[in-house]
Amino acid sequence: MIIQKSTQPRIGSFDPESYSFGDHFIDHMIVCEYQDGKWGEVKLMPYGPLSFSPANMAFNYGQACFEGMKAYKDKDGEVYLFRPEKNFERINKSAARLAMPEIPKEVFIDGLKALVDVDRAWIPYGEGKSLYIRPLIFATEEALKARVSHKYMFAIVASPAKSYYTAPVSVKISDYYSRAASGGVGFAKAAGNYAASFYPTKLANQEGYEQVIWTDDTTHENFEESGTMNVFVRIGDTIYTPKTSEKILDGVTRDSFINLAKRRGIEVVIGDVKVKDVVDAYRNETLKEVWGVGTAVVTSVFEAIGYKDEKLILPKLEFEDSYALTLQRDLVAIQTNQAEDPFGWRVKV
Ligand code: COI
Repeated sequence: MIIQKSTQPRIGSFDPESYSFGDHFIDHMIVCEYQDGKWGEVKLMPYGPLSFSPANMAFNYGQACFEGMKAYKDKDGEVYLFRPEKNFERINKSAARLAMPEIPKEVFIDGLKALVDVDRAWIPYGEGKSLYIRPLIFATEEALKARVSHKYMFAIVASPAKSYYTAPVSVKISDYYSRAASGGVGFAKAAGNYAASFYPTKLANQEGYEQVIWTDDTTHENFEESGTMNVFVRIGDTIYTPKTSEKILDGVTRDSFINLAKRRGIEVVIGDVKVKDVVDAYRNETLKEVWGVGTAVVTSVFEAIGYKDEKLILPKLEFEDSYALTLQRDLVAIQTNQAEDPFGWRVKV
């Protein structure tokens, strides 16, 4: 690894009490370039802008994918990553689907550990706080022919994080727009999936909803995801979540929630989550909770769901009655080394 430390660190001017998600970046970043059919040496260097031509293929044809993961500090100042192997596996699935070269494990994991280690002082400690880490791969060739790029960059940047959505949100069930299509790239963390979600989200915002519940593109009868998250529904005392597929992201937080729920003896059904069943459960008052999960947000509790022209108001549960909040607490306790880690999820840096 080539190491070039920052001569002008900015950590001294960072106020750990006053920042919001993703708006400050740590002093260093990782960069590794691909050309002539191979990845070069990993560089740890000062964080800052890179320069690319407007003819860069990533800008024009969208070969770009990313990951979202976090590092946590415990009360003694020790630092942990959470299930980094899952992100490594998933970025390569995304890369393969976008016809981009897969990244070797040592480039991803060693780069990640070196970055977190050099800037460990940037990792905030406290409730809901962490370092959000963004690995990404994108095309860098300057060319306008619509074909795969021959040059790429792998980079990792990171930003001190705290809770993403703080208050419960309202979500609108989509009956027209879709996030993903059969045979498409829904399972990949492709940058374009996010670009395509912004317009329908803007329309939902105009109707007074923060996020969209994405439904399947053919019938719009089944839940798929919500906003940038996987989605969970609780009817009675059973939790339902859509099965991952080529249209649904295999979320690390989703998988962790399923494991934690099962450990508590909660019944988890993984399969079709029908809009009709959720609406019926609302009408017969067995719909208890609907929430989204993701790395950035951890848990976003929904207070209302827009269904056609109706707004279904969900019950307000006390913390101890909420599966969403209880499972979130279980998860954060493991991530921040406040609880045992029976699944072996923490990786000390
Ligand atoms: C994540 O939870 O890491 C996400 O993908 C959300 C991000 C787009 C802010």
